[in-house]
Amino acid sequence: MTDPARLVVLISGSGSNLQAILDSCQSGQLHAQVVGVVSNKADAYGLQRAAQAGIPARVLPFRKGQHRQEYDCALAQIVSGWNPDWVILAGWMRLLSQAFLSQFPGQVINLHPALPDTYPGTHAIERAWADWQAGKIDAGGVMVHMVPDEGVDNGPLLNQQRIPFQENDTLADFEARVHAAEHTLLVETICRLIENA
Ligand code: GRF
Repeated sequence: MTDPARLVVLISGSGSNLQAILDSCQSGQLHAQVVGVVSNKADAYGLQRAAQAGIPARVLPFRKGQHRQEYDCALAQIVSGWNPDWVILAGWMRLLSQAFLSQFPGQVINLHPALPDTYPGTHAIERAWADWQAGKIDAGGVMVHMVPDEGVDNGPLLNQQRIPFQENDTLADFEARVHAAEHTLLVETICRLIENA
């Protein structure tokens, strides 16, 4: 049996996707271990999830006026200290430059709550729901992709799931289905990466 894959997870908020990863490592569904968590927000609830799981965590706030490259180098130093096999952007809300990405070639993956080439950037769920309300689309979705460069939510696709809207869907109804799908898709995708490594 090979050693468990070493995962570093970057978060910015609730950390429900981090929790899905932690739970799947615990259950054995993922032959992996989360060896470190970094948040750019000190108040991210995901930090409590890491603490409850006994996972080392660091907070690296972006200082107003700080150069992105300086920040990304500091972030890379923290992350590389944990010697990750995979770096998982799970609810991470900052664009990463090559100052970071070049340190982890082919190892960085991102989860985004939209289908490929639809709603890059923030508020993707709300934007999709508004377009459904306007009769423009009949489904949203989630995807996991590689992050080879500074493109916004448009790296090589690893996995996706279409999420059709249902009659009388409120934004909250749809958002709940999106987050549930994220948790499943992210774990499934990491599982595949580990098996194929
Ligand atoms: C998720 O939709 C994620 O894709 C987005 O932030 C939401 C919350 O993620 N970037 P989490 O609960 O912090 O994992």
